[in-house]
Amino acid sequence: MSQLAAGSTARAVLPGQRENDRMGHDWVAVLAEVPLFRNLSRRHLKHVASVARVRRYATGTSIVRAGDPGSGFYVLIDGAVRVVPPSGRTRRLKAGDFFGEMALLDESPRSASVVADGEVLTMTISRSAFSKLLKHEPSLTHELLRTLAGRLRAAEKSD
Ligand code: CMP
Repeated sequence: MSQLAAGSTARAVLPGQRENDRMGHDWVAVLAEVPLFRNLSRRHLKHVASVARVRRYATGTSIVRAGDPGSGFYVLIDGAVRVVPPSGRTRRLKAGDFFGEMALLDESPRSASVVADGEVLTMTISRSAFSKLLKHEPSLTHELLRTLAGRLRAAEKSD
């Protein structure tokens, strides 16, 4: 599995955590390593943890499916996924990366399927919590846009 440096912290916290539980404060050290959250204070990281849930997926699971409506936003805490669009290049995302933002931002169907490439651990945020976070955390919105700009450049290069 590809990991954040805090992967060991995540594994230490996991045994006491039931599937789909809210993350809680134990996860703050793990979230602090996620590039998307890098400018958030400890207080804001605690808030993110309080609205997020932990999900684990077996290898080969379609975490989101192209064409489905979007209900959540995901950050990869441990492991890697393949992003498989209906046409075009497959991409790989690794621990620390996020996915599932597009359908929430433009209220359109999922643009690609996202498939677990090995065992995967995610944090998931509901559509409404995601939209509240973006409204109240400008630094998070900025990081999200930065990554989207990079993804657009990469997609244009591979056209
Ligand atoms: P969404 O459309 O909600 O669901 C599929 C997700 O795959 C999408 O959001 C993005 O997070 C991700 N995705 C789609 N295209 C790319 C790409 N070219 N590079 C990286 N991630 C992508």
